[in-house]
Amino acid sequence: MSLWTFVHVADIQVGSPRSFRFAPAWNENWRTARRQIIAINPDLLLVGGDLTRDGSIHDFELEAVKADLDELPFPYHVIPGNMDTGNKHAPDQGPFPERDDLTLNVTSEQLQRFASCFGPLQWSFVHKEVRFSGFYAALAGSGLPEERQMWKWLEGLKDLPRARRHVMIMHYALFADRLDEPNFDITGPEQYADWYFVIDHPHRDRMMDAFKAAGCDTVISGHIHCRKTDAVDGICFYKAPATCMSQWADRWDDGDASLGFTRFDVCGDEIESTFIPLERISQAGGYGPGGHPRPEARDYSIAWEK
Ligand SMILES: [Fe+2]
Repeated sequence: MSLWTFVHVADIQVGSPRSFRFAPAWNENWRTARRQIIAINPDLLLVGGDLTRDGSIHDFELEAVKADLDELPFPYHVIPGNMDTGNKHAPDQGPFPERDDLTLNVTSEQLQRFASCFGPLQWSFVHKEVRFSGFYAALAGSGLPEERQMWKWLEGLKDLPRARRHVMIMHYALFADRLDEPNFDITGPEQYADWYFVIDHPHRDRMMDAFKAAGCDTVISGHIHCRKTDAVDGICFYKAPATCMSQWADRWDDGDASLGFTRFDVCGDEIESTFIPLERISQAGGYGPGGHPRPEARDYSIAWEK
């Protein structure tokens, strides 16, 4: 039985000194991860969204990371993240005035910009008897035409030829703690992060049903920047680490917010995962605000490159 490897990386958030904000440490961390991934020489690389710091605003960030990924010596497959397109649709304004949640809702225009750079928003293919599928689950509840296309694709996966295994990648996590946890309240400061990180009901159950119908056994998400593994109804849910920066380090006893990526070794029906920590974490300083600043808080006069 031959052994082969694929790698999943997420939340690399490569930015630009042409922007109103820039964290060179995050770019350097991606260079480190990229070197380590090339040394592993996987059959393919899965990139689980948030390729860019602000690709949702800047085409030049999408184009730069695309050119960088195109130089890799193996195929790669990407899904959008919210920093590349826009956020999961907020039903209400959240509790933080510096963040205008309703205007951060993902739009068709953002999705089409991403697709024109990277190709289809959802895809599925088989490599060496393993099916890989990827999509932008945060479209659920948006009411956008792309949401209808997403559901049609997702619920059609069951009709595709079966493989030995089926690995699904998504950006937002399907749930935080439990599949049956209730929706979190965006207006409550103590629940905002939970709301921000996961897919809401009723979409969550509909996705889980589609995963089961399609024979998915592995679901890998990003967005949270803290790795954790849960098994639910025969499906292994991996919350992936980030390479840019840690989040939610104290959220779970069994969570690990260390920076790195995940190596998956496949042998027959078996897939073994290994967390690969970054060999070096950059401390380089940058400029500009974090989070999701309002347009008037984006000061391009401080950009390092004009
Ligand atoms: Fe994200």
